[in-house]
Amino acid sequence: MVWLLFGLFLALLYFYDKYKLSYWRRKGVKSAETVPFFGHWLPVFLAKKFAGTTYKEFYWQFKDERYFGVYEYHRPTLVLRDLKLVQDVLVKDFPHFSDHPNWLFDGKSYARHSPFRENGNLWRAIRYKFTPTFSASRMTLALRRILSSVSIDLKEGEIEAKDFLNRFSAYALAAYFATEIRGMDNFQHIMRQQFIVSPLRYLEFQILEHFPKLGKLIGARFIHEPLNKVYEQVLGDFANGPSEFNELVAKIRKDGAMQLNAKDFDVSGDRAEVFKFDLSDELVHGHVSQFVLGGLDTTSNAMAMVAYEVAKRPDVQAKIRAELTASLAKYGGQWTYEMIRDLKYLHSVLNESARIKPVLPFLFRVVTKDYTFDDGLTLKKGDKVVIPSIAFQTDPAYYEDPEEFRPERWENVNETRNNFTWLPFGDGPRQCSGMRFAILEMKLIFAKILFDYEMTLSEKFKEPLKYHPRTFLTQIDGPLYINLKKLK
Ligand code: HEM
Repeated sequence: MVWLLFGLFLALLYFYDKYKLSYWRRKGVKSAETVPFFGHWLPVFLAKKFAGTTYKEFYWQFKDERYFGVYEYHRPTLVLRDLKLVQDVLVKDFPHFSDHPNWLFDGKSYARHSPFRENGNLWRAIRYKFTPTFSASRMTLALRRILSSVSIDLKEGEIEAKDFLNRFSAYALAAYFATEIRGMDNFQHIMRQQFIVSPLRYLEFQILEHFPKLGKLIGARFIHEPLNKVYEQVLGDFANGPSEFNELVAKIRKDGAMQLNAKDFDVSGDRAEVFKFDLSDELVHGHVSQFVLGGLDTTSNAMAMVAYEVAKRPDVQAKIRAELTASLAKYGGQWTYEMIRDLKYLHSVLNESARIKPVLPFLFRVVTKDYTFDDGLTLKKGDKVVIPSIAFQTDPAYYEDPEEFRPERWENVNETRNNFTWLPFGDGPRQCSGMRFAILEMKLIFAKILFDYEMTLSEKFKEPLKYHPRTFLTQIDGPLYINLKKLK
């Protein structure tokens, strides 16, 4: 009898799995062979492949399709291949795709209130109210503070670039908030633990992202204690610093609640309702946590990719230097926001590095209102859609010799290139709100280094460059040693 019941249970499990993994076939969407219970996610589960690599491989397998289906374990995800659909999802039909999926956040860590994690009208209110924190005038003030308070200590010899750049980004962030980070060594150590994780922690991340109910049941956390304690202290220091950010928070509070008219802001319609949200301490801390969790390692890892590319190319360094010398001469030797904004070639170098080595290689959205594509395919509320940016960014249909690092391809390219083939910061109303600040920091540090030094890869760095297998941001595996030689 027991065996019979057990057999019945296995049979039920078998048919349940078969049914779940037939979702795309039933919808007439192409999809690759699956593995029971894991769908297409076994290599990701085993940390053998990144999610971005998996999407990219399927992108080439289904090259005649406008989209294809992927199973992340049992969860069906529609991956877009057609740029017109990408534009529809990110911009034109945004009210149908306005949310980010749950991803890694649990219900306890501060990050649960980050703008990346918030959805619906609360997200809209926060995004709208805090957008001025990244205006050109705020960037000018932030730059002044970085220049006056962050010492960029460089000397001839070898540096470990990842650590150096991470430290610089952390100081720059603190300068943005007009404060400092207490116990920088401990803070960096803690951050490393959050971004490069043990196999067990990696499993916890998989559970948080794909099985959130189970995650809640077993108490899985995105940020563990005592890491949370350190964040608490850093976020408190940032949130209370005498910065323009704080002035803005005070102003919003003085005006009362964050109030929005639904007809302007309701992401899912145009009802004549008014929404009000209190700007609680939790929300403020959540917002600041986005700077720390979403703005620090993203920027410093993106800088490390640039350092790697630039250190291999003396010709690129010479061009950056020539442009910098000319721009400094134009602005009377002053390191101003305008002077840095004018460094177009350096900007091209950053664009090109982010194209080939994006730290976030894909974008995602959740369907917030049922949606029917122009060919009749209907997605239901709650379905997940992925835009495999890494695949578009390295597709020869859009970039000639896509694997070649060629900053020149960005010359004479401006807004007209806005055709959704370059998405390292996302696009549409949910585009990265810190992009301007990230680019400012990146341009500043490379201008400062190359003004005085020549960069080369140290012999201690072993090619080919590899990415760390267990992390949710793309980052270079191991140390990145770079030699600095003082210019005559
Ligand atoms: C090189 C550095 C960075 C990269 C590559 C990056 C990339 C991204 C990407 C891909 C998204 C998702 C966009 C989308 O879904 O369309 C995002 C969202 C976001 N990023 Fe960044 N980011 C960087 C630095 C920063 C910094 C420095 C800050 C803050 C100071 C920041 C704040 C945010 C916020 C608030 C969001 C959520 C936006 C929303 O959902 O409304 N990021 N970022």
